[in-house]
Amino acid sequence: MKTLRKTSLVSMLIVLSFLIGCKDKVQNNQDVDESVNVSYTEEDLYRPNLHFTPKEGWMNDPNGMFYYNGYYHLYFQHYPDGNVWGPMHWGHAVSTDMVTWKEMPIAIFPDEKGYIFSGSAVVDVNNTSGFGKGGGQPIIAMFTYHDMDGEKAGKTNYQSQAIAYSLDEGQTFTKYSGNPVIKNPDIKDFRDPKIVWDSIHEKWLMVLAAGQKIMFYSSSNLKDWKLESDFGDGIGAHGGVWECPDFFPMVVQGTDEVKWVLLVSINPGGPNSGSATQYFVGDFNGKQFNIDSSFEKDLNSSEHKSIWIDYGRDNYAGVTWANIPDTDGRKLFMGWMSNWHYGQEVPTETWRSAMTVAREVELQKMDASYRLLFKPVKELTNYRSTKFKKESIAINGDTKIIDSKAIDLSSTEINFKISDLKDNGFTFKLTNKQGDTLAFGYNNEDKNFFVDRRKSGKTAFSEKFASHVSKAKRTSLNPDLSATIILDKTSIELFFDNGETVMTEIFFPNSPFDKLSIEPKNQEFVLGNIEIHKLNFN
Ligand code: FRU
Repeated sequence: MKTLRKTSLVSMLIVLSFLIGCKDKVQNNQDVDESVNVSYTEEDLYRPNLHFTPKEGWMNDPNGMFYYNGYYHLYFQHYPDGNVWGPMHWGHAVSTDMVTWKEMPIAIFPDEKGYIFSGSAVVDVNNTSGFGKGGGQPIIAMFTYHDMDGEKAGKTNYQSQAIAYSLDEGQTFTKYSGNPVIKNPDIKDFRDPKIVWDSIHEKWLMVLAAGQKIMFYSSSNLKDWKLESDFGDGIGAHGGVWECPDFFPMVVQGTDEVKWVLLVSINPGGPNSGSATQYFVGDFNGKQFNIDSSFEKDLNSSEHKSIWIDYGRDNYAGVTWANIPDTDGRKLFMGWMSNWHYGQEVPTETWRSAMTVAREVELQKMDASYRLLFKPVKELTNYRSTKFKKESIAINGDTKIIDSKAIDLSSTEINFKISDLKDNGFTFKLTNKQGDTLAFGYNNEDKNFFVDRRKSGKTAFSEKFASHVSKAKRTSLNPDLSATIILDKTSIELFFDNGETVMTEIFFPNSPFDKLSIEPKNQEFVLGNIEIHKLNFN
């Protein structure tokens, strides 16, 4: 608890450092409004409005997400006693809409067998495990035991897979006496089991990251697991270790065709450096996953090599919810909104990290191949309040769109469309009176979307944080460009072209951004259908 007992002292220091930060800026920037010398607490300035954060302590990957009896459950890698990674627990939060979360008591604690690393949870509807009592449906969590002593002793077999069951709808878990259910076959990185019920082949499947491969297992009772195959040699990105896989069937939008999707997080080796998540689309015969030949062709083209769910630097280890009712039918996803390159150094003290907004995933056949599309869950629109709407704004120079007097920009949904983009590029800028700027937009010359946080406020905590502009090639051939943007105090999530290209990045301004403007790259154009909604959380 040492770190957290220091909280009040730390908060005072933070307020002081903001004041000093403001003063530095005032001295360096001619245009600064003197009224800006307001003090902010870390809570005011950096605790997100609409993204889940733990009340206190460290958080990384989302774990064990399932839906049951009206509640979405989110567990997460958690070190409650410090603000950097440490002995891992499964923290727990619940929500009725995936937007507003209630943090619950810690669900799984580390023990003599090790830390509780990432994993998944399923509702064992037919009690195949036998853990259910009196007709109740048990929740089965599967996680990796990480034996620190084994690691320190230089062993390679310190990660194994274990299960725990809950008979109270995911509040508390009892670890299975027969753990581990999968012993380590002498593979150093052997972790992050994700279970899925395969209704096509009527068995449980589990994917596991093993070095730079994914191993596929099957089971009839969630206790005894059979290795079926592996995947990944020479395919996709291999710049780092493979982690946190997910595997599920999806109906291709507008057809009856079913394809299997494999998500694989990788660290480092992402498209804009550090941690990121790639995916593969293919077929599964109950034992072996083979990527579709069209997708393979894409991967082999000089353009791609790997295809990512998000080209920003802050969406990692994301997986999908289990047990979403058929009446809903959505595939729902959430990721850790940070990056191992700097996640432990970001300028918050009492807690560290947030999750992305929950996202709906679709699989579409685009041109010759398959692509995942992501958009924020529709539940977010229930939080819309004040609205700013304009049919069109002619952009012929640096043009203010809105400032915080009209709409508080700290939790906002922005939608726009540019019809017939032709040869235009543009840069949106979020600014504050101290001159901090977060820039993002589209560069028509190299056909890249970009996010530039190099001058977005506090960046010096890590050399890697603001080392370069993040870029994502535009893949859509649509002459019109549309976007949905979700803004929070410390994050931006950009969904371009109906979610075909996504970029998620975090930032830490010295005071809240209070103006949004746009600049054309070379020629005048019309920004259409602009709609800005304040998202209200009070
Ligand atoms: C991914 C990861 C997982 C591991 C967990 C440990 O971010 O490295 O592979 O289970 O974090 O906290």
